[in-house]
Amino acid sequence: MIRYFLIATYCATALFAGAQAPRKTIAQRVDSVMKLMTLEEKIGQLNQYSGDWSHTGPITADGDKQTQIRNGQLGSMLNVVGVEHTRMLQEQAMKSRLKIPLLFGQDVIHGFRTTFPIPLAQACSWDTDEIERAERIAGTESSAYGIHWAFSPMVDIARDARWGRVMEGSGEDPYLGSKIAAARVRGFQGKGLGNTDAVMACVKHYAAYGAAVGGRDYNDVDMSDLSLWQYYLPPFKAAADAGAASFMTSFNALNGIPATGNRYLLRDILRKLWKYTGIVVSDWGAIGEMINHGFVADGKEAAKAALDAGCDIDMESRSYKNHLTELARNKKIKAGLIDEAVARVLTKKFELGLFDDPFRFCNQAREKSQENVQAHKDAARSLSRKSIVLLKNENNLLPLSKKTKTVAFIGPFAKSVRDNLGFWSMEWPDDTATIVTQWQGIRQALSPESQLLYAEGCHINDQDSSGFAQAVSTAEQADVVILSVGEARDMSGEAKSRSNIQLPGVQEQLIKAIHATGKPVVLLINAGRPLVFTWASDNITAIVYTWWLGSEAGHAIADVLFGDYNPSGKITMSFPRSGGQVPIYYNYRNTGRPAPNDSTLFYVSGYIDLLHSPRYPFGYGIGYSPFQYSGFTLSKSSLRKGKDSFSASVTVTNTGRYDGEETVQLYLRDHTASVARPVKELIQYRKVWLKSGESKTIVFMVDEKQCRFYNQQLAYISEPGKFTLFVGGNSRDVMETTFELVQ
Ligand code: NOJ
Repeated sequence: MIRYFLIATYCATALFAGAQAPRKTIAQRVDSVMKLMTLEEKIGQLNQYSGDWSHTGPITADGDKQTQIRNGQLGSMLNVVGVEHTRMLQEQAMKSRLKIPLLFGQDVIHGFRTTFPIPLAQACSWDTDEIERAERIAGTESSAYGIHWAFSPMVDIARDARWGRVMEGSGEDPYLGSKIAAARVRGFQGKGLGNTDAVMACVKHYAAYGAAVGGRDYNDVDMSDLSLWQYYLPPFKAAADAGAASFMTSFNALNGIPATGNRYLLRDILRKLWKYTGIVVSDWGAIGEMINHGFVADGKEAAKAALDAGCDIDMESRSYKNHLTELARNKKIKAGLIDEAVARVLTKKFELGLFDDPFRFCNQAREKSQENVQAHKDAARSLSRKSIVLLKNENNLLPLSKKTKTVAFIGPFAKSVRDNLGFWSMEWPDDTATIVTQWQGIRQALSPESQLLYAEGCHINDQDSSGFAQAVSTAEQADVVILSVGEARDMSGEAKSRSNIQLPGVQEQLIKAIHATGKPVVLLINAGRPLVFTWASDNITAIVYTWWLGSEAGHAIADVLFGDYNPSGKITMSFPRSGGQVPIYYNYRNTGRPAPNDSTLFYVSGYIDLLHSPRYPFGYGIGYSPFQYSGFTLSKSSLRKGKDSFSASVTVTNTGRYDGEETVQLYLRDHTASVARPVKELIQYRKVWLKSGESKTIVFMVDEKQCRFYNQQLAYISEPGKFTLFVGGNSRDVMETTFELVQ
């Protein structure tokens, strides 16, 4: 009787809490719900299943999910999209004893209804405002489809292009990666979780997943604390500081301990040091996978290890569901751990307003309003053209004239549709009608009087070269050839590691055949990772790296090719000369035998069969106008610890015919320290728009904080001594000057 009274009181409080919100804090409301919960209901909140409409991991079929929802055995779901589906399942939750609403999570990786470029491409814009805007749009669109929680951003530092998941992150640099991580969190969470257009961000994959041995997905990671703290953790910290509502653990073991059962990562760093109060969810099945890792013997041990370590929600492994009750009853887990985890989950449900109205994200009119929104497409087009990187443009072949008499558009991407979207994009029944293909974009931009000829040439990934002859004869009829090649959308992404990162199939042969016609060739490379395309780099006149650009690919590519947009993208991963060079990254520590230049081989650290520098360095990308750097000066040459600072100024001049944007990059080197420091580290950058012929002086303020690093005791400090500052439009072609840090 008492129990019934309490439940009735809770339900009334929960349902009408909107009107009474100031009366109780969220913590008090969480507490009052928890007082009513049985142990099984609490464990239910920590259990997450995939819906039955789509799957993003190995499927476990174990009975009717809706019954489990009604029984209070499920707190959240993923892969349930759309008002109709989320409403139907939320209605089941409302039939459970305590009517605790479900959370719906989804991989919203690069857009939702509108597909933006893949995250790695977006990062090449170095434009955090545009990236934030893209996530704001993704948050607005996905929340209108019943989603509360985006499993994004992925902030793993990635140095190995064999790893298929490089496409989901921001590349190899912790400074830029941190800026982008924070921007993405702000974008998803908008003005705060109480708003129905905001979704919770989920920072992943915590931690060091990007350093998987051999670039093989899910593989082991063995890493020094110095590297972990200096390179791999900063974007996570930045995302936590930006208020990310949740974290996801990674699949890998770090130094022998799976991340999902890793107390050091989850409790010592995340909870204690960073004082993080959001939810931690495991990756798909990762709690149970600790058995395969050889870290625990069975599901029971797995559940205990994960909860002890600080993982709140079990995504899809069922270890919590199957074992936590028994573990708790037998007092095998520390009292209070389940309650702490449940409280974190309920807190977010309150913050999202779901206790006030579990259906507040289920509004069909709002859902409808997010289809085909022109403003969103415009934003995607803008970010897409900023994501494109021009790698080579000899003889100023680009931009092309829109009046070119005959253009041949050749290659398997010329007319492809969904390959423009790339991995991790949503699929909608109508999306083939809304994606702007490369063909459509170029046809629309070209003058109606110009002829646009087509030949596929070959497929993306087979050995059939029977289309070459037609492609060659098509090229022969044209004034210029645009040749679009690359990776199919399922060739980079989760579980899409490649040992050979060259162009797949016979595409390189096709490039050679078209080049042999003697026609000028503009090569477009569509891919989810830096590929190796040495022959093309050496021989083809113009190379444009288009990545996978999303819904507006065709327009964005045409904007760049015909000069409506002067390309400004800069790569955020070093492009190797050969797969044998990876992992390759610009911020490496020096060796005792550095090679002074690429060609010296006499007992130095290099390769006897290959230059050791990357083909294209971090930060590289050209436009249609060269930018000249001059007058790099410091306002003083020594810096005191404390509040001291100096300015580093450089004049940048647009010496070409086209207005354009340059990303001015400032790097630092600490010459001698108690731990070896990298030869260069990005410490700031500035995007600057310069009209043709215009000069601007860029001023960076430098202070002691930018000289800090993690020492052997993992204290974040600076040490006095000599430093070099470098400035330039990429990490290789720089001007430099020195200063002294004094006590
Ligand atoms: C596994 C992936 O690693 C993770 O990024 C994703 O969010 C989950 N599956 C859910 O799809």
